[in-house]
Amino acid sequence: MTAKMKLRSQLHLLTGFMAGFVLAFVLLLYVYDVSRVTPCWSSTSTMTTATTARIEDGPPPRILCMVLTCPENVQSLARSVYETWGQRCSRLIFASSEDYEPLGVVGVVEPTGGGYEDLWNKTREGFRHVWEHYAGDYDWFLKADDDTYVVMENLQHLLRGFDPNTPVFFGYKMSRYNVLLHFE
Ligand SMILES: *[C@@H]1O[C@H](CO)[C@@H](O)[C@H](O)[C@H]1NC(C)=O
Repeated sequence: MTAKMKLRSQLHLLTGFMAGFVLAFVLLLYVYDVSRVTPCWSSTSTMTTATTARIEDGPPPRILCMVLTCPENVQSLARSVYETWGQRCSRLIFASSEDYEPLGVVGVVEPTGGGYEDLWNKTREGFRHVWEHYAGDYDWFLKADDDTYVVMENLQHLLRGFDPNTPVFFGYKMSRYNVLLHFE
């Protein structure tokens, strides 16, 4: 075999490998993500698709942002939210396990109830607080974490014209990792 022929067969082998990888990748994407564009509720569902409910030129939506935080993060993460995107919420509430009034942090759970395993309870108690104090004053209630960044202008734009009293589902059904959502 000449050196040239050897090089050529090596090149063929390499090309074959690369083509194989690309094909396998595309196939995997297809298998795991095939339902990306199909709606995840049946036509009998009360959920409304984002394309049908929209009324253009509605009033700007009033959005209350509830951001979960904890005492250790108040001066760092929570303060960053407070000084940036939080300013563009109609109202910003931090749900924590300890009050800190300068930033609007409310202790919604006991100081001992702020651990990771109590996250759900903190979320629920946060929503309870928001519901009891602000239920009628805002159109939408956003739950976020203190390491979240939300472009509020885009969210405002997205929600504008949607009736907050009509359930609506944005996004897509996550079908990877065997996670399937069902709406009944
Ligand atoms: C959730 O938090 C509230 C308020 O601190 C507390 O009264 C309640 O016992 C907690 N529930 C659980 C299951 O931890």
